[in-house]
Amino acid sequence: MCGIVAAVAQRNVQEILLEGLKRLEYRGYDSAGMTVLNDKGELTRHRALGKVAALGDELAKAALPGFSGIAHTRWATHGKPSEANAHPHHSGQQVAVVHNGIIENYEYIKETLQTSGYTFSSETDTEVIAHLLSDKLQSGFSLFDATQEIVNGLGGAYALGVMSSKEPGVVVGARQGSPLVVGIGIDEAFLASDPLALLQVTDRFIYLEEGDLVELREKGALRIIDRDGNPVTRPVHIFEHGDGAASKGDYRHYMQKEIFEQPSVIQAVLEGRLSGSSVLVESFGPDAQVLFQKTRQVHIIACGTSYHAAMVARYWLERYACVPVQVEVASEYRYRHPVVPEGSLFVTLSQSGETADTLAALRFAKTLGYVGTLAICNVPGSSLVRESDMTLMTRAGPEIGVASTKAFTTQLVALMLLTLSVSKAKGQEEHASIVEALQTLSSVCEQALALDSQIEQLSQAFAEKHHALFLGRGAHYPIALEGALKLKEISYIHAEAYPAGELKHGPLALVDSEMPVISVAPNDDLLEKLKSNLQEVRARGGQLFVFADKNVGIKPEDNIQVIELPHIHEALAPLLYTLPLQLLSYHVAVLKGTDVDQPRNLAKSVTVE
Ligand code: AGP
Repeated sequence: MCGIVAAVAQRNVQEILLEGLKRLEYRGYDSAGMTVLNDKGELTRHRALGKVAALGDELAKAALPGFSGIAHTRWATHGKPSEANAHPHHSGQQVAVVHNGIIENYEYIKETLQTSGYTFSSETDTEVIAHLLSDKLQSGFSLFDATQEIVNGLGGAYALGVMSSKEPGVVVGARQGSPLVVGIGIDEAFLASDPLALLQVTDRFIYLEEGDLVELREKGALRIIDRDGNPVTRPVHIFEHGDGAASKGDYRHYMQKEIFEQPSVIQAVLEGRLSGSSVLVESFGPDAQVLFQKTRQVHIIACGTSYHAAMVARYWLERYACVPVQVEVASEYRYRHPVVPEGSLFVTLSQSGETADTLAALRFAKTLGYVGTLAICNVPGSSLVRESDMTLMTRAGPEIGVASTKAFTTQLVALMLLTLSVSKAKGQEEHASIVEALQTLSSVCEQALALDSQIEQLSQAFAEKHHALFLGRGAHYPIALEGALKLKEISYIHAEAYPAGELKHGPLALVDSEMPVISVAPNDDLLEKLKSNLQEVRARGGQLFVFADKNVGIKPEDNIQVIELPHIHEALAPLLYTLPLQLLSYHVAVLKGTDVDQPRNLAKSVTVE
């Protein structure tokens, strides 16, 4: 949700900022802009509607030379995508601001500023920040002190980058509710919403804490204060993944690359967490054994794709660890009045670790008497990780495609590790056969990905469709939900998912010869039930596309196309059956010519409510 990048360097910053924006484009891509302080002490700006490439075209026509600057790629919240609403927002010739988040009390602030004579040139909430700063600067405050003064009056969430023509070589950043990292170069310093934006210039980062304010100065000088105004030193982290992780390599799209990375990242998430035919409970931290022993039930909270992973975990934890589980989307949970029985463990799932609703749910949960909090997350140093008692990193590496793929499957592996760990810590079965199956999972996934060209052919049947139904039973109902989400997200085909047994309670009315019905059919104890549900579709002339275990005997016939998958341990089938559904959506989207990696209206990291 909006990407920020800023630099104070020993060289022209335009290209650093532009490259940073390209790398942040997954966070928002409806408009982009940049402000650079030139050698005459003037704030010079370009803004462009559309993707970062459009801003690049403007910069090619007229460069913005200068050694300090701020830039932004936008995902619109207040005010439609337009050049006037694009950041940076200026106040006169003096102040420039980029912002990620939402200022909830901006209307009130705007009215006050208008009464004092300020005029507004955008419909955004952000512009109030520029005028507030200008007001303070005119009263004699430095940029740093002015920022410290005004953030106290801002409601909602923000990550800010600000600069002033009065203070050349200074950029100030602030963080409250939206991510912001400081990149440390050689005699240079940077700010960004995500370390990925800065990997071309540094691999050393400081993850700012909530309420932190930072000042970047020439020659890499830094000053950080916490929310109480105390000077603080934050630890410097080295970014673990190489810069190559942020490039497409030989693939046409990031999503395609990320789908095909799944066998290797599945190995990564398992590494060092299994021993022989047993799970290592301590993978969840030194306190895990005691905490899991105390755990009598589990609440799992997440959004979107991560929520679907949580739904699979409910089936696993109940079946293999005998623990009752509640699963809920974070945006609902955070506003309920949940009853928390004694011994409840609170688990959040998030690729980014910065999803606003999930983070708010965690903060709320910490007031409710849970026995402990666990974050399963892909981004080290993210807010969710820092604020949870225990963490398990999913090690999927950077996921750039907006549609989540490898983050989902690694979350599932992590959740299976959780299931096995809770069972073991409670002195129950160790499920050696599942542990053994986990050790060969990566190669079974390779076999599923080898079906790519068959699935590509199948995708042609969807190119002209407007609707699709996905069916699954048991732990594969969430997989059907995830399949439908992927298809709608990147191909814009309206897709719904149902537990197959629900079909006859309503959605069967939609089935006719125009309705593609996609089902996953692993070899499990619900197979015969599922087969009957598929017959109900066939009898109504529906077009069936079935991804089936090679041993279950579902054969292609009129109106049934079957793609056979390798056999896998029943417990791990949800992981395997996810892959063909990802490939199907990918190929349908490519056929339809949509923007696969940056689908319309969406952003990768949802840091606003
Ligand atoms: C899925 O393809 C989406 N990108 C989206 O549903 C995503 O899973 C959701 O916004 C949650 O994000 P998180 O895992 O980073 O918290």
